[in-house]
Amino acid sequence: MKDRGNIIDLLNSKDSDELKALIDDTESIRRQKIGSKIYLRGLIEFSNYCDRDCLYCGVRNSNSRVVRYKMDQNEIIAIIKSAYQQGYRSVCLQSGELDSTAQINWLTDIVKSIKDISSGTDKQGIGITLCVGELNYRQYLKLWEAGAHRYLLRIESSDRDLFNKLHPPAQRYEKRIECLEALKDIGFQVGTGVMIGLPGQNAEHLTRDLEFFQALDVDMLGMGPYIPHSDAPLSRTKVRSILDPYTTTLKMIALARSLMPEINMVASTALQTIDPQGLKMGIKAGANIVMPVLTPPRYRDQYLLYKEKKHTALQTIESELEEIGYQVKHDQWGDSAHYFRRLGRDCPNG
Ligand code: 5AD
Repeated sequence: MKDRGNIIDLLNSKDSDELKALIDDTESIRRQKIGSKIYLRGLIEFSNYCDRDCLYCGVRNSNSRVVRYKMDQNEIIAIIKSAYQQGYRSVCLQSGELDSTAQINWLTDIVKSIKDISSGTDKQGIGITLCVGELNYRQYLKLWEAGAHRYLLRIESSDRDLFNKLHPPAQRYEKRIECLEALKDIGFQVGTGVMIGLPGQNAEHLTRDLEFFQALDVDMLGMGPYIPHSDAPLSRTKVRSILDPYTTTLKMIALARSLMPEINMVASTALQTIDPQGLKMGIKAGANIVMPVLTPPRYRDQYLLYKEKKHTALQTIESELEEIGYQVKHDQWGDSAHYFRRLGRDCPNG
């Protein structure tokens, strides 16, 4: 096992042989521990209204260039029914932050309707991941009781100072930690993650991020390169990251896989956007989840958290992954094996 010094050196290294060796080593550990199955989450970005003002994000509240939309319940359910027909057994509902009671009630109804979608033979139905930001305990509980069972809330950076440089003062680091703890306490499979290549971020920050993920005992991770958005203020900073966002993301995925062998980890859309090989390399480095975007094309230009966001069709994903020896699994939830281990239960993934 690598110690802290080794990890920092690896993250700082510009040696491509070292990167290749890290990925190759991790790939063999991964094949032993979790095999070569890849699970899908159909991503539905159902609304871009957002109360928050994250300094890096294209749909931040103050970006007046964004045309705001919110899909209606029928539209969301129709997309999910069609995804179900295509073999998807898990969806991820994502939006800007919404914390009014009316919004939560609306989302709770949608979660309940999704739970009703299943064929006669398949009682399991559809697994639901939510990614709708910082809510209070009662609101999370309500969504859990309605049937959502995974939740993604990235910490963005586990370093308080860096976090504060990415968010306005009203968005507090402590609140985000409280939310992650609430989600865990309720029983969700909990996912977090960071952006990589942020202005001012260095290898020490990322090493501490890995320690943070381990201390929180996360079930899922989503890490992707930071991609500046010209309408977001962070894109105008003169501060640079000394780390290359693409290769450093691959290293972080590989390191996370070797430190936390049974978690679920996504080859993020941002990773696919920043390099044409991003999907394949993210999977080789250790990711086992892909989230194809199911948001209808007419909304996609209004859901650009960063510019030039890439959309890859499911068939392309499947054939690219088959070429490197991985199989996309249809008809399975693909829950985090780590979650079941943490709770001392048998993992249904087998
Ligand atoms: N570059 C990369 N990722 C971004 N996100 C938001 N803005 C950007 C950006 N400019 C990521 C954040 C957030 C997730 C939904 O999208 O990490 O948690």
